[in-house]
Amino acid sequence: MSLVIRPLNCKDAEAMRALRLLGLQTDAYAFGASYDHESEQPLSFFQDRCTPTDDKVFFGAFFKNQLVGLMSLVRETNPKTRHHANIYAVYTHPKNRGQGIAKRMLAQVIETAQSWTGLRYLQLGVAARNAAALAVYQQAGFVTWGTMKAALRVDGEDYDEHFMSLDLARLCNNVTNGMSAGAQVNV
Ligand SMILES: CC(C)(COP(=O)(O)OP(=O)(O)OC[C@H]1O[C@@H](n2cnc3c(N)ncnc32)[C@H](O)[C@@H]1OP(=O)(O)O)[C@@H](O)C(=O)NCCC(=O)NCCS
Repeated sequence: MSLVIRPLNCKDAEAMRALRLLGLQTDAYAFGASYDHESEQPLSFFQDRCTPTDDKVFFGAFFKNQLVGLMSLVRETNPKTRHHANIYAVYTHPKNRGQGIAKRMLAQVIETAQSWTGLRYLQLGVAARNAAALAVYQQAGFVTWGTMKAALRVDGEDYDEHFMSLDLARLCNNVTNGMSAGAQVNV
């Protein structure tokens, strides 16, 4: 079966909303945002997030034409920090995990980031106990530069957060070889 990874657009907003809200419920500890807040947002909120600009793109992974994965890339807008961009909203539908979808999305994100003039670093935060996400990021070359104790409190439980970055200038070409974007891949 083929997997298609592509930038989302305004027309994908309803599907993106559904998958995003599912993620905020199934894996609340993995996101700073909360289901209670985002579920109250109008569709225009998600349409805006899905609409690419020069500084942001929201990728979706489609399996059998169904949206099953999300990953966004958002560049800093301040002139002094525009050499950084952040990765947010990483999620694979529970039924589709362990098939390389997050890795493929990350390869697409990295490829896109490399095409943005002047961008040097990718940044992200990940719960310290999130072994699957850590594996995805570490395999792509991200390194942890700091850890915040009890960064998130979810249902009364505290979660430490690792902050990771990837220096695009030091990236080995083979990190994304064979995982290139837009890709039709077999899963
Ligand atoms: C993290 C997440 C996006 C990974 O998505 P995925 O599509 O299943 O990821 P992939 O299949 O591309 O890769 C997963 C990797 O993690 C590894 N992994 C999975 N569970 C693991 C665990 N408990 N311990 C260590 N590694 C683990 C897999 O083995 C695989 O690596 P491998 O190919 O070298 O074997 C998915 O689990 C998810 O949506 N989790 C909830 C939301 C979340 O955590 N988002 C990240 C926020 S920072």
